Amino acid sequence: MAKKLYIKTYGCQMNVYDSARMADVLAPLGYAPSATAEDADMVILNTCHIREKAAEKVFSELGRLRPLKTRKGERGEPMILAVAGCVAQAEGAEILARAPFVDIVLGPQTYHRLPEMVARAARAGSQVLDTEFPAEGKFDFLPEAAAPQGVSAFLSVQEGCDKFCTFCVVPYTRGAEFSRPAAAVVAEARRLVAQGAREITLLGQNVNAWRGGDGGFGGLLRALAAIEGLERLRYTTSHPLDVDDALIAAHRELPALMPFLHLPVQSGSDAMLAAMNRRHRADDYRRIIERLSAARPDIAFSSDFIVGFPGESDKDFAATLALIREIGFAQAFSFKYSKRPGTPAAALPEQVPEAVKAERLAALQALLAEQQRRFNAAALGREMAVLFEKRGRHKGQLAGRSPYLQAVHAEAPEALIGTVAPVRITALLPNSLTGEIATARTEAAQ
Ligand code: 5AD
Ligand code: SF4
Repeated sequence: MAKKLYIKTYGCQMNVYDSARMADVLAPLGYAPSATAEDADMVILNTCHIREKAAEKVFSELGRLRPLKTRKGERGEPMILAVAGCVAQAEGAEILARAPFVDIVLGPQTYHRLPEMVARAARAGSQVLDTEFPAEGKFDFLPEAAAPQGVSAFLSVQEGCDKFCTFCVVPYTRGAEFSRPAAAVVAEARRLVAQGAREITLLGQNVNAWRGGDGGFGGLLRALAAIEGLERLRYTTSHPLDVDDALIAAHRELPALMPFLHLPVQSGSDAMLAAMNRRHRADDYRRIIERLSAARPDIAFSSDFIVGFPGESDKDFAATLALIREIGFAQAFSFKYSKRPGTPAAALPEQVPEAVKAERLAALQALLAEQQRRFNAAALGREMAVLFEKRGRHKGQLAGRSPYLQAVHAEAPEALIGTVAPVRITALLPNSLTGEIATARTEAAQ
């Protein structure tokens, strides 16, 4: 009999990808996706540990699931409850102790062993903890991706991080940098395209540190761009230190590589960058942005910022605002610094008061929101290449994305799903753009 699997995913795109792969590994055991925990035979919380309160959120979600699990058990419908991802990796033992009704705790490196864990949990009725960094690579043991991901697909090419930014838990939860070999990546990309993908986003905690083949990450992009039928390539997330000449050349030469890059800088102050162990200065970042812009004049940037890192003065913060003003971002993510247990910055003496962090975050976000508004407004009246992904909310309408990941809606025939068509942007909505197909050119594009 078919069993139901409900996965709740927190955090980054990597977790979204991992959740899909966990569903793949469990499919042969008869688990089919379920939209709610209520009718699931197995529930997985795929957790994120990057910022504060993540662990607490997981414990309160577990608290909500507990009565459900008890009720189902009493009805003779046992429910397996698993905690996966980075909170599991960091606090596995604590989870088992605080939530004894949890059956399985597994880290991001062991989800290929899930079927075995499920069998062990079911058979022994005891808790299973697997947060090792096993010697075998999980990618060698995972089945080929089962469910097609649609027009826009994700592909994990790199995991882990050796950078050790002083605020970040990733090097501890995801482990050392690991790159999947080029041949495996290209094979998976071909499979995704055969299943209908027209856009692939390469994922990695430090994706441009990929070292799985000759020519580095730029070489990998080149190999992927040559795949017939693949219209768009993207990658996330990157570190400025790993932007090398080959990568810049890829941006210059590969039309499929989208002119939109998420390149976190965190701060515009050299003192803060040094304290964060980012290993570059603000000017190095400016130079990289200049070189990428020269290589691909239509490129736009997104970034991550942290305010209130320990020791951040008003002057340091002003340097961040100045950098933002100078570069101009199409969009960005910004966070108050949060202490992560076990990271070097958590032990620094000059922690910034909460009120100061809040004030700085508000100022930073106001500036970024204004830049984003301006960037979107610049699209008005322009023609943009839109990759249509699915039907829109209104009848006759399709939803797609611009090269800059802006959501675009336009009236268009369903036959255009999975194709790139020129759209003239006619209106700006709060979270999307509306446009109409630029007809003359569409015929040429079909
Ligand atoms: N506090 C605040 N923000 C953080 N990030 C990572 N760790 C922390 C932390 N301890 C942010 C960084 C990173 C993004 C994924 O999350 O900006 O680029
Ligand atoms: Fe964390 Fe820094 Fe590695 Fe990014 S580069 S995952 S912020 S340690």
